[in-house]
Amino acid sequence: MAEHSTRIRSITGSEDDGWGVHYRAQAMQSAGEDVTILSVGDHDFTTDQRIVDACKDSLDAGQHHYSPVTGGVDLREAVSARITERTGVTTSQDETIICPGGQAGLYACATLAINPGDEAIIVEPYYATYAQTILAAGGVPVCVATLPEDGFQPSAAAIAAAITSKTRMILINSPQNPSGVVYTRETLEGIAAACRDHNLWLVSDEVYESQVYDGEHISPRALEGMTDRTLVIGSMSKSHAMTGWRVGWVIGPEAAIASLADLFLTMTYGMAPFIQNAALVGLREGGQGEKEIAALYRRRRDRALQALSKSAKLKVHAPAAAMYLLIDVRAVSASGEAFANALLDEEKIGVMPGESFGASAAGHIRISLCTEDDKLAEACARIGDFADNWSAA
Ligand SMILES: Cc1ncc(COP(=O)(O)O)c(C=O)c1O
Repeated sequence: MAEHSTRIRSITGSEDDGWGVHYRAQAMQSAGEDVTILSVGDHDFTTDQRIVDACKDSLDAGQHHYSPVTGGVDLREAVSARITERTGVTTSQDETIICPGGQAGLYACATLAINPGDEAIIVEPYYATYAQTILAAGGVPVCVATLPEDGFQPSAAAIAAAITSKTRMILINSPQNPSGVVYTRETLEGIAAACRDHNLWLVSDEVYESQVYDGEHISPRALEGMTDRTLVIGSMSKSHAMTGWRVGWVIGPEAAIASLADLFLTMTYGMAPFIQNAALVGLREGGQGEKEIAALYRRRRDRALQALSKSAKLKVHAPAAAMYLLIDVRAVSASGEAFANALLDEEKIGVMPGESFGASAAGHIRISLCTEDDKLAEACARIGDFADNWSAA
């Protein structure tokens, strides 16, 4: 058989990425066992019916054709107006490209910034695809750890210290998955200064910006001198419960967006018009459902925190944002994976081992809030009891 490229081989056949526990939970569920799966960041409810209807209407109206590779004018205008309103940075549609989900945007930005062998700094714990995304673009991921003791707030000095002559970009994610941390202005100012000093791209993954419960989300693109070197990733997956629709965007300088359009020409050749029309309805009506979705996750966060607070052994990093809780299990197990496997075997609850998000979340587990309130609270109480009574020996 003809060979696979070195680049593709860099992302295939990687060692267990932590999804092993999840796949086992799914297999047990399929075999008829009563398993509660708290591992995935996907809503337990469907997309707002008005968005669904807009898609159906577009299909019925014959919108079955190619659309501009950058995304339709109306949707780009709606996204750029949203960014202008939320960040105060006047943003035009030429600084906006629509893509199939935030993940496609992440890959495209890495491809824009990185030459083969260049380094990209990512902050641990990180969203599970980050290292692979950098590798897929031919780059070398360089991890900078954040500490549980600092509530996983990054140190701009540690990030700056990781910069070498090969560094081309820094990838950050605030509000953050899995920790729920919202970067402070001071952190972002420090990271922005490092980018300016070393002429780097800052890729800012803001797919959770609509789900902030404590503190304030600041887009680093709005900081002084950053508009020309920041690429913002946005998405409707989390904000509008549209994970399966694949609608995201990248915001950046016009020339960068033009280059991304050339890249997407070779990949997606544009997005489905009926999906874009549906997305437009979601954005236009003042963020239909967006606030309700954020309120729901805030309520679930509070219930989960309350249930977990009864445990003598677990320590929870109360998330300021997003749809997850990162739980410190080190009082009973140095390995989040060992704890997650035992929890699945004995309590039939599936969670993500912290190690899947990088070494700095070792000894943690992540649960998602994408389960109905009472069931979630009950599962959290059982996780607490399990930890209090479990001995890893
Ligand atoms: C931090 C982060 N970035 C990007 C994504 C990808 O989102 P999308 O569905 O928009 O591709 C996710 C999905 O979980 C995420 O958690």
